[in-house]
Amino acid sequence: MDYKIAIAKGDGIGPEIVESAMEVLDVIGKIKGHKFIYKEAPVGGFAYDLYGDPLPLESIKTCKESDSVLFGAVGGPKWDNLPGDKRAETAILGLRKNLETFANLRPGYLFKSLKDASPLKESIIGDGFDILVVRELTGGIYFGEKGYKETENGKAAFDIEIYSEMEIERIARIGFEMAMKRDKKLTSVDKSNVLESSRLWRKVVEEVSKDYKEVSLNHMYIDNAAMQVIRDPKQFDVILTSNIFGDILSDEISMITGSIGMLASASIGKDKKGIFEPIHGSAPDITGKGIANPIATILSAAMMLKYSFGLEEESKMIEDGVAKTLEEGYRTSDIRGDGDWIKTGEMTEKIIKTIQKMVQN
Ligand code: NAD
Ligand code: IPM
Ligand code: MN
Repeated sequence: MDYKIAIAKGDGIGPEIVESAMEVLDVIGKIKGHKFIYKEAPVGGFAYDLYGDPLPLESIKTCKESDSVLFGAVGGPKWDNLPGDKRAETAILGLRKNLETFANLRPGYLFKSLKDASPLKESIIGDGFDILVVRELTGGIYFGEKGYKETENGKAAFDIEIYSEMEIERIARIGFEMAMKRDKKLTSVDKSNVLESSRLWRKVVEEVSKDYKEVSLNHMYIDNAAMQVIRDPKQFDVILTSNIFGDILSDEISMITGSIGMLASASIGKDKKGIFEPIHGSAPDITGKGIANPIATILSAAMMLKYSFGLEEESKMIEDGVAKTLEEGYRTSDIRGDGDWIKTGEMTEKIIKTIQKMVQN
């Protein structure tokens, strides 16, 4: 079958890692007889430099007319001093809003062969952990009213955290549905000891849980959760949380899997069209050196095959290819520990060769 994929490379290492993922997709396409048809959608600082707009209408159109979106990363020092609504980051925020991808799935699991790359002790890791962060993605403080006002202390700025019952309910349902397919345990993370929006969050999550009696639900404050994922990550199955708490917690979880360069994500919601994006950013400090870890983006492409196209077998081929390549000892610099490492392109090649070999056997 043919699948139309919008390609939003963005800035910094964005183009490098997206190209790696496209190479892997092409190999899967060849093996299984699918055709992935790519159309570029300029976004971020790259688009701003070209068109004066980090998210041109034409790019939104390309994404809307495609079956799915593969997204690299946006942002960088060059665009940091632009006014808020022109910043490179507004591209990903605007795209999520436009495509109504209100649920962001961020799987944080430890590949067995990567125990060495995790900063956690062997006694804590045991035989590994497998956490799925379900992050609300189109609401909360990111999208509440923001602005400036005069106060008795002079100029002040504000960003309002606001959640409707509808927004909480729909993300909670995704959280419980995911838990049903996994270990049936859901931890809802909030700050209901302080925030009114968190108190509503907790109440709605409790209501929704009545439809999922098999799932054991517990609540945890965000400050405690940030500590608990380091103390004992194995206690978690699905973590359901708000936009900003999920953003922070998932970067923390990525590190205990070895590196932020490992963590993929699927932004889904209204329909099968999703945005598939690594959780990391444009990494200006390593841009152009050819050393970025492409695995987060390659695994994001695997999530696209599964969630947008229903190609579970193809998706698993990529995951297995990554796992096997890591088992063979290949590492990029971020996950090398004390050992040798290879560059972005070489890692991509190794993964492709591994997939091809797996098919031959
Ligand atoms: P970052 O994730 O870009 O980088 C943090 C650190 O992790 C850096 O040292 C970087 O080199 C490293 N790193 C990130 N991805 C890596 C990879 N694939 N392989 C190896 N190392 C990797 O976060 P930051 O430095 O806080 O942000 C840089 C820019 O990216 C900012 O403009 C920020 O707004 C933007 N950003 C964009 C997205 C997105 O587009 N989805 C996400 C996060 C940050
Ligand atoms: C992420 C990023 C984005 C977010 C930024 C760049 C808007 O940090 O995808 O995690 O905060 O959602
Ligand atoms: Mn983030």
